[in-house]
Amino acid sequence: MLKLPGLIDPHVHVREPGQTHKEDWDTVTQAALAGGVTTILAMPNTIPPIFDHSTLELTLDAARQKARCDYGQYLGAGPSNADIAASLAPKTAGLKMYLDSTFGELRLDDMTLWTPHFQKFPKSMPMVMHSESRTMAAAILFSAIYDRPVHIAHVSLKEEILLIKAAKEKGIKVTCEVCPHHLFLTKDLTGFTPGRTEVRPRLATQEDVDSLWANLDVIDCFATDHAPHTLEEKDGENPPPGFPGLETMLPLLLTAIDLRRLTFDDLIQKCVINPGKIFDLPEQPETWVEVDENAVYEIKAAHQFTRCGWTPFEGWKVKGKVTKVVLRGETAFEDGKVLAEAGSGRNVRG
Ligand code: NCD
Ligand code: ZN
Repeated sequence: MLKLPGLIDPHVHVREPGQTHKEDWDTVTQAALAGGVTTILAMPNTIPPIFDHSTLELTLDAARQKARCDYGQYLGAGPSNADIAASLAPKTAGLKMYLDSTFGELRLDDMTLWTPHFQKFPKSMPMVMHSESRTMAAAILFSAIYDRPVHIAHVSLKEEILLIKAAKEKGIKVTCEVCPHHLFLTKDLTGFTPGRTEVRPRLATQEDVDSLWANLDVIDCFATDHAPHTLEEKDGENPPPGFPGLETMLPLLLTAIDLRRLTFDDLIQKCVINPGKIFDLPEQPETWVEVDENAVYEIKAAHQFTRCGWTPFEGWKVKGKVTKVVLRGETAFEDGKVLAEAGSGRNVRG
């Protein structure tokens, strides 16, 4: 039996409010616990998006009643909410900026809209960028100009990881996360309907995947970007992009450790220590995850707690199973059952 600290996932789409047929605060935190994750940070692209006081209270109310693990909620940066975002900062996980994807009210089309957020959002609070390729380069330049930390979400390309490495060498305050699906899958993924291979950032080439593995020391965090959409939606017209990931991250990483692609220390650094520091998260006393490191089994959507009903890793053989999770002295998950009660999770910003 292996004992780990509770993992932190800084990138989770909870889907509540607005799309609870995909997931909600209850099912997402059950999925988290089953995956050995005891803290999730929730993205703001819900319906409505979380971008002001009333929408923040709306989602935090639901979390207070339903969450079974600890959580924080990001605020979305919009074209005209820089003052309100700055004033709400202490109650949030941080600010999420969508810099180059179409995204309703949270879309920041041009760089003049970035400036007020960089000027006003407290430097002590995390700023997370959804920015790919050259937009990511621009985000790093803003970090240098305004001398404030930025965290780049879901890095997937060789050109991205190499630029982040160079920026870090120059002393720019940039950190980054990589998702398991960008470490273990390529754009040549087969055996699924095309809709089920859709994710943003897109799955990349083997060369990109190899460059992520070759630059593990540049990767600060692993994050799932757990983005559940139902099977019906994924296999229907206009399939929305996104993969579930909370229940598969730890088994995939443990399997990589078994194959000597990763060390145990890498896992603890990137899933616990670094996200704890970057996102300034409180300690969770008497909290741990027990893993049967020799358990070999197949990943199956049928065994998952997420409401979405599928996984891109269906049928993958993995080694390492979460057998028990203890959160603040209470057994939260054991032998495949979630025992933590709805509402027992705490807001990391108290
Ligand atoms: C995300 C979602 O479904 O909310 N999808 C994804 O493919 N990552 C949207 C996003 O994070 O851009
Ligand atoms: Zn996301």
